[in-house]
Amino acid sequence: MQEIIAKTRTFRRFSQKEQLSSATLGELIDLARLGGSARNGQPWQYMPVNTPELCAKIFPNLAWAGYLPDWKGPVEGERPSAYILCLLNKNRLKGTEGEVQFDLGVATQNLLLGAMEKRIGGCRIGAFNPQLASLFVMPDYLRLSLVIALGKPRETVIIEECKNDDDIRYWRDEHGGHHVPKRSLESCLVNLEVR
Ligand SMILES: Cc1cc2nc3c(=O)[nH]c(=O)nc-3n(C[C@H](O)[C@H](O)[C@H](O)COP(=O)(O)O)c2cc1C
Repeated sequence: MQEIIAKTRTFRRFSQKEQLSSATLGELIDLARLGGSARNGQPWQYMPVNTPELCAKIFPNLAWAGYLPDWKGPVEGERPSAYILCLLNKNRLKGTEGEVQFDLGVATQNLLLGAMEKRIGGCRIGAFNPQLASLFVMPDYLRLSLVIALGKPRETVIIEECKNDDDIRYWRDEHGGHHVPKRSLESCLVNLEVR
């Protein structure tokens, strides 16, 4: 479990020609579906996309790697070959906004862990152009909230320990390796004095 969690990084460059089947995307959504949910409301629905035509329409609406301002996102040939759109079904709302976003975190982590086991990498994209929703005939009760980009990874991602508390910006080395600083275990622990 430690190994698969450590390997399940955010990937942003892919072998675009390696298609992901609808059956595979269905298996990943099945993992999302099984996640814990506040009040067991399970308000999330998912739309798999794997046709090159629709992928090409989705791509220009996505913002990639805000900490790498000189990088404009993956070039043609390295773009995602599939997406899973995460849509909140407002008719299934039982909890607060915070709770439903929590549910989405649980669900998408299940999905990405299962993807990595199949050697598929992904990137959650919250920074998408709201116009993306207008590619679709969107019923009032659905709200597009997150895009998961997927594909066969074509980059190396290295996790390393933060050198100081503010040093959380990911960076690329001269070979294109993508480095992601994680806070140390020690800095994630608190020891509250007991009253
Ligand atoms: C809710 C959420 C939204 C994110 N949105 C974006 C995004 O819009 N664009 C992007 O390139 N990465 C996005 N990411 C990926 C984060 O940048 C990434 O998780 C972080 O750099 C840590 O890397 P790691 O996932 O490999 O641990 C998002 C991640 C999460 C959890």
